[in-house]
Amino acid sequence: MAELQKDPMTRGDFLGFGILGTIVGAILTIPPAAFVLAPIIDVDILGKSDVPEGPDDWFEVGPIAEITEEEPKFFKVDFPVEQIYAEPKVQEESGISKEEFVVESALWVSWRTEILGDGTYGQSYRPSFLDNYDGGTLTEEQVQEAQENLNVLSSSCAHLGCPVRWILREGEGELLCPCHGGIYNINGEYVAGPPPRDLYRYTHEVREDGKLYVRHEFDVGGENGPQEPYVI
Ligand code: FES
Repeated sequence: MAELQKDPMTRGDFLGFGILGTIVGAILTIPPAAFVLAPIIDVDILGKSDVPEGPDDWFEVGPIAEITEEEPKFFKVDFPVEQIYAEPKVQEESGISKEEFVVESALWVSWRTEILGDGTYGQSYRPSFLDNYDGGTLTEEQVQEAQENLNVLSSSCAHLGCPVRWILREGEGELLCPCHGGIYNINGEYVAGPPPRDLYRYTHEVREDGKLYVRHEFDVGGENGPQEPYVI
């Protein structure tokens, strides 16, 4: 009886050839495809946005005297933003140029607060001069004290950007994200849930007029900051 002939190619060989073919195909296909699609990628993916730089790139938030020590205060700021759709060369070829529009952004502003071992809140560092503040010109020392003790927080959750809300729970307040339950304390520091970090902080300054001003950028500190907000 004739012996059954074995298939000379094993299953492992077959899979190996398949993977090798995929790699070779990708090497041959990606460079020409990237060349052909470069203008489209420039327009649709590499768009940039920016707030015009100069003396007007600070934006008024509001009077610091309105911020109490018990809870953060909610503010809205309109940032004019330039959206640039492409690199200059592609703009010329496509006729697409930049657009200007306003982005309304929400901020939570609180006074730096001591966090005790059990997570409850201790002393608030709201400057005492604000108890009798009549709206006059602040001294240099008062400006500095207020500036150093403010938390100027983006309301966009550091997980996927949902707007966080201030809620009271068992006497203590917290900034809660309604999307996946991320929790931050009054200083904007991460407490629980999926967010990978604290809330983002805006670059800010307090001025002699007793008001808070921000730039459209996050003060992330160290070598990485400041950064343009990714979620606006
Ligand atoms: S977006 Fe806030 S926890 Fe996911």
